[in-house]
Amino acid sequence: MTAVREHFGSRLGFILAAAGSAVGIGNLVAFPVAATKSGGGAFLLVYALFVFLICLPVMMAELAMGRRSDKDPVGAYRQLSSGSHLWRIPGWLALATPFMIAVFYLVVTVWVLGYLIETVTGNLDKLAAPDFFIQFINTPQIFIYLVALMLLINAILAMGVKDGIERAAKTLMPMLFVMLLGLVIFVLTLENASLGLKYYLIPDFSKLDGNVVSKAMAQAFFSLSLGMGIMITYGSYMKRQDSIPGSSRAVAITDTLVAFTAGLLILPSIFHFNPQIDPTELSESSAGMIFQFLPRIFLALQDGIGYVGASVVATTFFFLVLVAAITSLVSIIEVPIATLRDERRMERKKAIYLIAGVQFLLAIACAVSFGMVNWITDFVQLAGASKSFFDLVEIIFYDTILPLNGLLVCLFVIYKWKKANFDKELQEGDEKFAGSFSQKYVNFSLGTFIPLILLLIFINTVALKFF
Ligand code: PHE
Repeated sequence: MTAVREHFGSRLGFILAAAGSAVGIGNLVAFPVAATKSGGGAFLLVYALFVFLICLPVMMAELAMGRRSDKDPVGAYRQLSSGSHLWRIPGWLALATPFMIAVFYLVVTVWVLGYLIETVTGNLDKLAAPDFFIQFINTPQIFIYLVALMLLINAILAMGVKDGIERAAKTLMPMLFVMLLGLVIFVLTLENASLGLKYYLIPDFSKLDGNVVSKAMAQAFFSLSLGMGIMITYGSYMKRQDSIPGSSRAVAITDTLVAFTAGLLILPSIFHFNPQIDPTELSESSAGMIFQFLPRIFLALQDGIGYVGASVVATTFFFLVLVAAITSLVSIIEVPIATLRDERRMERKKAIYLIAGVQFLLAIACAVSFGMVNWITDFVQLAGASKSFFDLVEIIFYDTILPLNGLLVCLFVIYKWKKANFDKELQEGDEKFAGSFSQKYVNFSLGTFIPLILLLIFINTVALKFF
């Protein structure tokens, strides 16, 4: 047996760590881009509804599973299903998913780190050149940055739950809030900022269609770090006297506020850069936004605040994204660590070496799939187009398995583990929850329309991405 299970030291510590997981590149970039392209305020509204009506109950379910079982996702499914063989499958999926998503997230974070180093060393002008990104992701420096990033993240993880994960979140998250607010205040003083605000906030309901709605849902789900076993694992480190519903709400609110605030940063910057712009023409991808479009916007700031000023703004931005990505990576890599510790009784350090080794190799496979190694670049043909190894990881795990995992959590908690047990767990640390409207809503929604919506998203993705 492992010694006493580690726990987060305080409720605030847990909330910051979980919010650290939730706040990531998704909030800072993918969310503003999606909102821009999909009807501004109308998207915000749909997104907020999804967060609070659909994702929040799933978060409570994952946290409750973790806390009740005191285990990693594989162990949680096994224990709460009293050893059912069938329910082992979602447990393993909830392990494979974070493992593989971590790989592709690592690669993107390596690029962020590389961009940060370039801006700090005065090379913002290089970043703004049209083909810099493609050249950059194919340079061998990438591997040095990968090693540096992995050393940092694994050093945090090696210190354990309270002294590593929680302490990092307590330091980094307040830093993130301050940097984000500082940047927003600066951007709002720029010329034409109000055009961006108008575009962002005034709803255009004509843009809402099935695709937009499904995108908002997928974005909300990913943003709250659901379907990746993370909240099950973090739940197992939660104290019994803390409220699961209350803490989940705090995490969801923080995550949504950060995403919303990031829009206040990105949209006014875009309109300052070009007041005539039609933001729906922007590229769909977050990578295009962070690594190609934003550097040009930052460089253009030099007309007003000089090259050094523009570099400081760019540096702050990339540092902000890096911090957000690090706290997310820490949470996602903790899942396989917890599994090896709980299921194989492995020591934390040993588990870290093993996982880091495998992830390093896979991250290299992803990183070289942008042209450095041809067969990994054209790995398979899907839906009529050739896909790289990097694309494949994203399509299979992020687009497809994520909603499936969410669906399985709902079905498991309500129909296998059973409502009464789930309720009991939610009431622990929160007596007021018993018999409340929230409780009825959570129970009803998790057993009915939430799994249905997740199923539809799953089917839609499979149809779209694989055929
Ligand atoms: N919530 C994160 C984001 O919005 C997603 C994520 C969490 C990714 C954990 C990886 C690990 O970017």
